[in-house]
Amino acid sequence: MIVQISGVNKKGSKGELKRRKLYIKTFGCQMNEYDSEKLITILQDRYDSVPTPAEADLVLINTCSVREKPEHKLYSLIGEIKELKAQRPELLVGVGGCVAQQEGENIVKRSPGGVDFVFGTHNLSLVPSLIQSRQETGKPQVAVNYREDWEELPLGLAGGSRVSTFVSISRGCNKNCAYCIVPVTRGKEVSRAILEIEKEVKIAAHRGAREIVLLGQTVNSYGLDFRPRVKFVELLERVSQVKGIERIRFTSPHPQEVRQDFIDAVTSNPKICRHIHMPLQSGSDRILKAMNRNYRRDKYLRIIENLKSRVPDMGVTTDIIVGFPGETDSDFEETLEIMKRVRFDSSYSFMYSSRPGTPAALMEADPALAVPADQKLARLKRLQKLQDEITHERLQSFVGQTVEVLIDAPSTSHGDRLAGRNSQNILVNLDQRHEALEPGMFITARINGAARFTLKGELLEILGK
Ligand code: 5AD
Ligand code: SF4
Repeated sequence: MIVQISGVNKKGSKGELKRRKLYIKTFGCQMNEYDSEKLITILQDRYDSVPTPAEADLVLINTCSVREKPEHKLYSLIGEIKELKAQRPELLVGVGGCVAQQEGENIVKRSPGGVDFVFGTHNLSLVPSLIQSRQETGKPQVAVNYREDWEELPLGLAGGSRVSTFVSISRGCNKNCAYCIVPVTRGKEVSRAILEIEKEVKIAAHRGAREIVLLGQTVNSYGLDFRPRVKFVELLERVSQVKGIERIRFTSPHPQEVRQDFIDAVTSNPKICRHIHMPLQSGSDRILKAMNRNYRRDKYLRIIENLKSRVPDMGVTTDIIVGFPGETDSDFEETLEIMKRVRFDSSYSFMYSSRPGTPAALMEADPALAVPADQKLARLKRLQKLQDEITHERLQSFVGQTVEVLIDAPSTSHGDRLAGRNSQNILVNLDQRHEALEPGMFITARINGAARFTLKGELLEILGK
């Protein structure tokens, strides 16, 4: 195992190979962003990151197949890069992620001359050898076997210091929701050893992280595959003891696995942020059943009530799918109704998109069940309009309040000012420039305005780093 605490640049040392340029395009979820960071780390001895493919010697595309749209984007991007390749045949193109895992060598066949190698979701550590084999043999390379390569991946992340850092705690998913391709593309759920996670969190803290976001498809089933079992709440406790880490987030818990110990930990550990992102998917029991979600609306509502009874200002966000096969107007009304009851701070909402090989794809093929595209779109718009209204009211409710903000990035409204997030994960843009402020600092801010998705605040006090 390689342990890299900082990005060691070997430029200038004797016998060093010429440094090359890497461009990575990442589609999809935070798991993919995390994997892309790992790829940068794996390749950092030879490659520096560049912001455009035109400057690159190596282009990596980390793909997503959770819905149809990002899959289409992959092929149009390959088409664009093929034009660059026509001018510079030495430019290498590698495709990884979920589409790569599913399609394997078909990607090479579908884009003749456009793709040099394909790597699956469990083959990140093979990328340097795929590059080498491609150069030596002149033939496209494909590696998509499932192999647990966690131990072979470098700990720690490349790039500058990150105030908020992702740490993956498990891969894959055992849930088999009827619409979802993830169990196919990422395989069975495998938890990562607690010591490995702890080490990565410590490295992140050493590099300036103040906040850790634990990533997994269903974080709260963490450790169920260990003997003896380890609980997610034990992991939370361990991570919260790491020096320098002041905030912990995680995404996403599955309602089915939420038990009292989880509620207790989330509401009593002061380092755990007052925000939960818990996918609902539908407010109708009939649809939840058809989706194979293994919980019903009452259970979801009980969890939220339980959390809010202990932490009234807990922010709740969610994922919702509209137009799942068989969804009627009244099923959809139930989703709107639960949305009004929970009053999500915000939500990611999607039109159902059929994924080949999933059980729901068979349902969608039945004209009696498929929801017409125009109806899906109309439902999505209604849902998003309702969410916008709720979000607006929620953001307004912060006006006049004093909140704690972890400064993280330039403001989204004025590039010369800074911004950060409050505990509920809402972005707070500062209304003035402050020389003394830098990313990684905690401050208190008085909220004096709200935009569509963000808050505006005035600096009150710098609490420190
Ligand atoms: N169609 C539409 N949305 C989907 N999601 C997952 N699979 C599909 C699909 N086939 C959504 C779910 C999930 C989020 C990451 O993507 O809401 O929580
Ligand atoms: Fe997909 Fe369901 Fe697993 Fe989430 S819990 S990754 S939606 S199968």
